[in-house]
Amino acid sequence: MSRQHMMWMQSELESLRERGQYRSLVDSEPRPGGWVIRSGRRMLNLASNQYLGTDLLQIRQELGAFPAGMGAGASRLITGHHPLCTRLEEEFARCKGTESCLLFSSGYMANTGVIPALVGRSDCVFSDRLNHASIIDGIVLSRAQCFRYPHRDLDRLEDQLKKAPRGAKKLIVTDSIFSMDGSMAPLRELAELKDRYEAILMVDEAHSGGLYGEEGQGLVHAMGLTSRVEVQMGTFSKAYCAYGGYIAGDSMLKDYLINKARSFIFTTALPPAVISAVYQSWQSVRGHSVRRDELQRKAEMFRQRLQEAGFDTGGSECHIVPLVLGSNEKTLRVSEKLQQEGVAAVAIRPPTVPEGTARIRFSLMAIHSDEDLKWALERIIRIGREEA
Ligand SMILES: Cc1ncc(COP(=O)(O)O)c(C=O)c1O
Repeated sequence: MSRQHMMWMQSELESLRERGQYRSLVDSEPRPGGWVIRSGRRMLNLASNQYLGTDLLQIRQELGAFPAGMGAGASRLITGHHPLCTRLEEEFARCKGTESCLLFSSGYMANTGVIPALVGRSDCVFSDRLNHASIIDGIVLSRAQCFRYPHRDLDRLEDQLKKAPRGAKKLIVTDSIFSMDGSMAPLRELAELKDRYEAILMVDEAHSGGLYGEEGQGLVHAMGLTSRVEVQMGTFSKAYCAYGGYIAGDSMLKDYLINKARSFIFTTALPPAVISAVYQSWQSVRGHSVRRDELQRKAEMFRQRLQEAGFDTGGSECHIVPLVLGSNEKTLRVSEKLQQEGVAAVAIRPPTVPEGTARIRFSLMAIHSDEDLKWALERIIRIGREEA
């Protein structure tokens, strides 16, 4: 690279460092019981999205090896559409109570492909201000007019819906559980608004898939809203402990996306081995109702303990419990000290969260023991107070 290019990159990196926003990669190897080795140090993993602690190695031992095939060889529309895709899509849709399901290579690719397929330049998207980056990127790619409403603010959303030009398609898009806050979208009220304003409702179930409903079908299903949400999006990378994204909805939607979603059309299909792992992992997650209940019980205890100690846990209502600290520097110090004491606590800073709301995002796993959580809480509370 030329010296000139190195200089502007260097200066951008320095500016990130000055603002406490510089990020770097840390080696992390999962260990049983919800622990992790990070940079050679053993820590309680309070930063994983594998909320149920589903263990793929164990599933593999119980159910046998996944079929070989680490390369699909082509996109789905060419020769990459393995019969395992059909099986997973059909059975998963049946479980969710939708007519169909369509696999994407990741949740990020589902959001960045589906939103531009549904709306374009002359349409409008209404997006909760705390929606995930992949939704924001999908909206940018769509070139639609974007209205960002304050977090869960239905009055502002309604004002914005009224402003949409006549004839424009309207898409309301929301996370079901907000990834950095652990708050829940008002799904019932959103469904009412979308009916009133003839909009499409799209719900990202990345952090609720596998965790709500009798078989982990997600929050939309658990709230009895399946027929009222046109587009359910999710990922197999979190509670399902595997990889890949999906869209669930009507057959017409699937047919349309196969023809119009660029991130589906112009990429190689997921490897058959991954689809097989997703299938087996999903089967295991369906039966984990005890773990689902345990996860919420542990999260409730964890959140309450932090609140009683006077900490700000934002709008958390689930297994994601932020410790909102405000400044980037303070958050980095707390994160560093906690990691030194064996708690994997990762600092989340802008632009992932709004300026001035830097935090440690704790995410619990059903397999964390009560003793380990109490041990971690003692450290979090002590270090949090030292840095107050
Ligand atoms: C709300 C939300 N949507 C989508 C994604 C993207 O999913 P994936 O990791 O499968 O790309 C994530 C996380 O990564 C997320 O938190």
